[in-house]
Amino acid sequence: MTFPTTRLRRLRKNQAIRDMVEETILRPADLVMPLFVCPGTGVKNPIKSMPGNFQLSVDMIVDTCEELYAKGVKAILLFGIPEEKDEHGLVATHDDAIVQRAIKAIKKQVPDLFIIADVCNCEYTTHGHCGTIVDNDVHNDLTLETLSKQAVSFARVGADMVAPSDMMDGRVKHMREALDEADFYNMPIMSYSAKYSSAFYGPFRDAAESAPKFGNRASYQMNPSNSDEALREIDLDIKEGADIVMVKPAMSYLDVIRRTKDNFNIPVAAYNVSGEFSMVKAAAEKGWIDEERLVKELLTSIKRAGADIIITYHTQEIISKL
Ligand code: PBG
Repeated sequence: MTFPTTRLRRLRKNQAIRDMVEETILRPADLVMPLFVCPGTGVKNPIKSMPGNFQLSVDMIVDTCEELYAKGVKAILLFGIPEEKDEHGLVATHDDAIVQRAIKAIKKQVPDLFIIADVCNCEYTTHGHCGTIVDNDVHNDLTLETLSKQAVSFARVGADMVAPSDMMDGRVKHMREALDEADFYNMPIMSYSAKYSSAFYGPFRDAAESAPKFGNRASYQMNPSNSDEALREIDLDIKEGADIVMVKPAMSYLDVIRRTKDNFNIPVAAYNVSGEFSMVKAAAEKGWIDEERLVKELLTSIKRAGADIIITYHTQEIISKL
């Protein structure tokens, strides 16, 4: 049947019918808020390139978590800025490291807030790369050791899920084995499976003080031109034991999210990263866009592409408007 018998505008004629046929609905439970914890007390350092986001000391992050939970935020993703860094990122592997202290304090005060701990070395190494350097490049297998130690420590102090973002080969398998050996067989792994070497991470590297001091991350993060390769990464991570796979960034990679959803039967997360957030904020500050409408449209498009979970800095503001 075609026109004039069929008229698609009939299903758009008022709000009630438009709501009835709405396909993609964003829910508060879909969203994860990233937070940055730093040393000190009473510290709430604004991150210039990410308006509304802060480096927070442990006491302040607990307050923030209470407020977020009261607003309806169910999950956070934690990043740490340590007091000191070292060659290998070992500063992040003990139970009193910065993120571990934050996890313990948050769990005490807001026990039902789901805490995801990002597992990586770039915030903790003097050189800013995601692992141990040998011959001017990140050594894959040595790095697996520090990553797994970090993950097991996060599990010990009460994290609800670990999320490796380093892009080393074999890290999911290595981490799964280390967790199981320590009896954390129930600890889920959300793997940053298809993580691209992206210019969209710029503001985050200011926030986490994690920019590489030499070179770039192209020898471990993916080439933005590739999507077949993303499916290989995801396939391997699932075989190694990932419980959730992630595509990152989100906005410029909606095609990769859709291919992932169509090809695998596993929950898919998408990371709406710092640069994507900052572009929206900058345009909003200039009065060039309607921020609330735009953020809803953007996050809905990520969900429509196939993401079950969306990690986004917009969470704290948009959550009460859904
Ligand atoms: C670290 C990490 C990065 C992000 C999350 N984990 C940055 C990077 O790879 O340099 C980026 C997040 C964002 O831009 O919001 N491994």
